[in-house]
Amino acid sequence: MEPTAAGATFNAAAPEFARWYARLWRPLGELTVAVSRPRPGERVFDACCGSGASAVPAAHAVGPSGAVDGVDMAGALLDQGRAVASAEGLAQLTFTESDVLTWESPHSPYDLVQCAYGVFFLPDLNSGTKTLLSRLRPGGRFAVTVWGNEAMRSLLAAGMPAIASERPAARTAMSGNDPSAPLRTPAKLRAWLEQLGLERVSVTEVGFRQPLHPDDAWEFLIGAALRGYLVGLDSAAVERVRERFLANLAEQGTVTLDADSLIGLGHLGTTRPSP
Ligand SMILES: C[S@@+](CC[C@H](N)C(=O)[O-])C[C@H]1O[C@@H](n2cnc3c(N)ncnc32)[C@H](O)[C@@H]1O
Repeated sequence: MEPTAAGATFNAAAPEFARWYARLWRPLGELTVAVSRPRPGERVFDACCGSGASAVPAAHAVGPSGAVDGVDMAGALLDQGRAVASAEGLAQLTFTESDVLTWESPHSPYDLVQCAYGVFFLPDLNSGTKTLLSRLRPGGRFAVTVWGNEAMRSLLAAGMPAIASERPAARTAMSGNDPSAPLRTPAKLRAWLEQLGLERVSVTEVGFRQPLHPDDAWEFLIGAALRGYLVGLDSAAVERVRERFLANLAEQGTVTLDADSLIGLGHLGTTRPSP
């Protein structure tokens, strides 16, 4: 996805994204940091930080002597993150609105670059990730969190036809190649990280399910990437999408959100330049 489109989509989705922060994005961000393990004094680049789900716990971990730079295209999410950082007294955490691939960092090279649910939005998965890796110091760590193989599938199966009924042109875009497909199993994620030149690679599987009330399911759908397809539809059309989506969910018998995730971690070699 082009960075400006990603920013516009998540800005539009920001109110509903916020309602899933406490029960989904933040705990999964905490788990990312439980694997990436920032240490006191370290410099961390949180790419595609959104409202700070993983940047905030990283800032707690590095403490006042460290620095966490959260970067995202969606200014409305960054504002939510700034409010959390302020409430939690995290002066070491800054949020910047920018494309993560072109951002000029004040703290590069980093001890740790982490990216939760963001790499698959980069316009080119491999070259974009290599750009993120180029921000690491020799020996630095890269942590990446992605959805597991079955995660989100029931939601998408109910949501995509409902959206396509009002936005026929979106059908092709939504059914096109899934950019996260090369990452969605532990073996694939490990192989991808190794192919990027990372060493001592590990993949942690996280089981994360949530009870899914239909009202919450709709908020989740419009609080994430599919929101982009609804921008520009009038309110009657959006209501028809909602009704079809909920009917599809009921027909499927979906009462659980599968947010199982994979957290990959790898280290840059100490002697070789970054890939
Ligand atoms: C699913 S959200 C995840 C946000 C956060 N990491 C979390 O776990 O809550 C994906 C985020 O990636 C951001 N994004 C996508 N492409 C981007 C780019 N090229 N530069 C900056 N941010 C980008 C979007 O704006 C969005 O906030």
